[in-house]
Order: sequence, then structure tokens, then C-alpha cells
Amino acid sequence: MSTPHGGSAAAPSAFRLYGPRFQTAPTELYRQMRTRYGPVAPVLLDGDIPAWLVIGYRELHYVLSHPDLFARSSRRWNAWDRVPDDWPLMPMVMRSPTVLCSEGEEHRRLAGALNDALAGADQHEVRQYAVQAADRLIDGFCTGSKADLRADYAARLPAMVLGRLYGLDPARADVLADAMTTMIDGGPEARRAQQFLLKTMGELVAARRQRPGPDVVSRLLAHPADLGDQELVPNLVVLLGGGHQPTTEWLGNALRLMLTDDRFAASLTGARSSVREALTEVLWEDTPTQNYLGRYAAQDVELGGQPLRAGDLVLLGLAGANTDPRVSPCPGASPGRGNQAYLSFSHGEHRCPYPAQELAEIIAAAGVEVLLDRLPDVELAVGVGELQWRPSPWMRGLVALPVTFTPVTPLGGQ
Ligand code: HEM
Repeated sequence: MSTPHGGSAAAPSAFRLYGPRFQTAPTELYRQMRTRYGPVAPVLLDGDIPAWLVIGYRELHYVLSHPDLFARSSRRWNAWDRVPDDWPLMPMVMRSPTVLCSEGEEHRRLAGALNDALAGADQHEVRQYAVQAADRLIDGFCTGSKADLRADYAARLPAMVLGRLYGLDPARADVLADAMTTMIDGGPEARRAQQFLLKTMGELVAARRQRPGPDVVSRLLAHPADLGDQELVPNLVVLLGGGHQPTTEWLGNALRLMLTDDRFAASLTGARSSVREALTEVLWEDTPTQNYLGRYAAQDVELGGQPLRAGDLVLLGLAGANTDPRVSPCPGASPGRGNQAYLSFSHGEHRCPYPAQELAEIIAAAGVEVLLDRLPDVELAVGVGELQWRPSPWMRGLVALPVTFTPVTPLGGQ
């Protein structure tokens, strides 16, 4: 089953990690993978590039806890000779001086600086930014009687708040949000979008050097880790892109859950605690980052009964692991609403930084709460079955979330 260029290359029936099946029923696909291969499945990426997808909870936890065996840098990849320059997933594997690609001491230095820069944000201020941004977005559509809560709301709110934290104005943050979606989807425009983001961040760093302020960029510039421009710019793109996209899907998927599931109907009429419950349930059932690329085997190693070769690409099957029947015994029943043992933010030294997780939760919670306050009779404009998931094996989010409501007066303000 294994070859020098990735063990899955020879598996005749490896699952393709692209195409419409991911759109409709990924959970069913993970179930089939588990039945055929167990917790570690051979898969094929675009262009039939082989990789392993880890969908067992224990196995994924093991991978994430052993960076010595499953390392982060793509320089270890053994399939570089099979990848064309214009490979759609190139932005995900390209080497860059970022926290994502670095290992060991270098990673601790970069991750420490990003962590401190994010932790310096005042949580009350973040909440205020989020409420203001939510109100501004709702003002944009509340006089009509319908909206698409994904395009008009969830896909914009996180970038607007992160933009404020960077000191950007809302209009520029909006343009960045579009570019990030294009880059993360990995289509033919992905590389151009990445170039655009790099250029915009470069301009921002130059501006903050001249005039520092109470923002994330200025805190990074002043950090004792002493990041140079070559490191600062790509790491700012990672923060913005890595923060915006999953928070968009977290908010959108939570809104979907609350609008479609009777258990959450109470919060549409005011019971607040359900918002946090919905956010937690989404992390178990429809986690924003369903699969993540990834890790590289540092040596030949057996994982979940599969023989991995040094340099094999290992994908983090976060959604698959969260719904592993050994963790969640009956399908569809998440293991306890308060239980936070999901792997949605990953685990180990490369996990999503804690201050980032807190920021994301503040933004998503404010997004749901402000919307329900402003449009108390909001309801889905189509049948639940008509809602479509985006065709990405990486992110779990809706194409659109059309709703109707009684028109209300805009609040105005900033
Ligand atoms: C304000 C919003 C957010 C920011 C600024 C942010 C930032 C980051 C950063 C800097 C990393 C890289 C950590 C490292 O390699 O050391 C990261 C990783 C990650 N984040 Fe976040 N994030 C945000 C929201 C989210 C959300 C909402 C999710 C999903 C629920 C998420 C899931 C992940 C995952 C799965 C990783 C990969 C970790 C790994 O390689 O093991 N993030 N995030």
C-alpha cells in the first residue's frame, strides 16, 4: 500500500478529498472511510496527490501531541516532485516564514509574539467593536424584509472586527475579507489573492512604523521577539486570514443551527444561554475548519494501523475526529453541550492560540446576539433542505443563509 512518495499513492480506492460529496454529506463520507480504513484513511488531493486523513479522535490527539513525529514544515514533504507550480492548494503548502510553517524554538518565538499581540486586546473593547460592526451591517439590510446572513453578515463581521484590531478602516477590511475567501478556497485565483493580501499588509506595517497605535500591528512591531518585515507581513496575513474565515463559518453555522433547530427556538425570544450552547454544538457537529493541512511524518511511523513513510503528508481530520463514534457514541448527538474536548481549535503547540479562540468567541457570540436583538422575528426564507454547503473539503460553511424578517429602522452610528 505504501510507496516512497506517500503511502496512499498505491491505494486503489483512496477517497478523493474534493468534489461534490463533501458538499452534501461529509459525515457520511467519514463514516465510510472509517469502515474501510479505520481511523487513518488514504486520500487524494487535487491532481490525485496522496495524503493521509486522520479521522480518529485518539489518533489525531496523538499526532498533535507529538510534533517530533508529526512536524509542521512542508520542507519535509516527499511529494514535491509531483506537485505542479499552479497546484490549487499551493498556498497551503508553500514555505513561508510564518508561525504555521515553523518548528521548535522558531515557532515558540513567533507564536509567543502573536499570542501576546492578540492578548493585548481589551476584551470589552473587542465586544464593543463586534457590536458596532454587527449593528452597522444590520443597518445595511434591516429596512428591507430579507437578507442573506452569510454574504451580508457572517462573511463580513469577523474581518471588520479584526480590521479594527489592526487599526484598518472597515472598507479596507471588507476588501481583505473577499481576498481571503478566494485564497482559502484554493481556486485558480488563490495565488493572486495571496499576493494582494501580502501587499496590503506591507503597506499597513509601514504606516504603523511611522505612527504606532494601540493595535495588534503596533504591538507586534514593539514585541521583544523583534520580528523583521519579512516575518511580520506574512504572519499578519496568517492572523487575518486564519482568523476571519473560520470565525465567519462559526457564526454562520451557529445562526443556521438556531434558525433550524427547535431546541434553540427559545433564544429567538430572548433566552441568552442558548447562544453559547449553539456555538459549542457547532464546534462538535459542523466545525468551521473540518480538515486542515497539516503535518508531515518526520520518520517512518505506524499510525492507526497504517504504515506512514517519512515525509508523508498528514491531514488533520478535525470534523471526523470530533464525530468519532468512540467519542460520540450515537451519530448526531454531540457529547454534552458543556463539553469542550472538541479538536476544532486543534491541540498541542500549533493549536489556535487561546487569545485567538477568545476573540473568535466574542465576535461569534456578539454576531448572534445583536442579530436576534435587532430582528427578533427573523426566520429562514427557504426550507432547511434547500440550504447548501460550500464545496470545500477544508471549511464547513453555507453558500447562503437566506432569511426574512419584519423591517426595522436603522440605528445609525459608526
Ligand atoms: C480571531 C480569530 C482567530 C485568530 C486570530 C486565529 C489565529 C490562529 C493562528 C495564529 C494559528 C496558528 C497557530 C500556530 O501554528 O502556532 C491558528 C491555528 C488554527 N486555528 Fe485559529 N484563529 C482564529 C479563529 C479560529 C476559529 C474560529 C477556529 C475554528 C473553530 C480556528 C481553528 C484553528 C485551527 C484548526 C488551527 C490549526 C492548528 C494546527 O495546525 O494544529 N481558529 N489560528
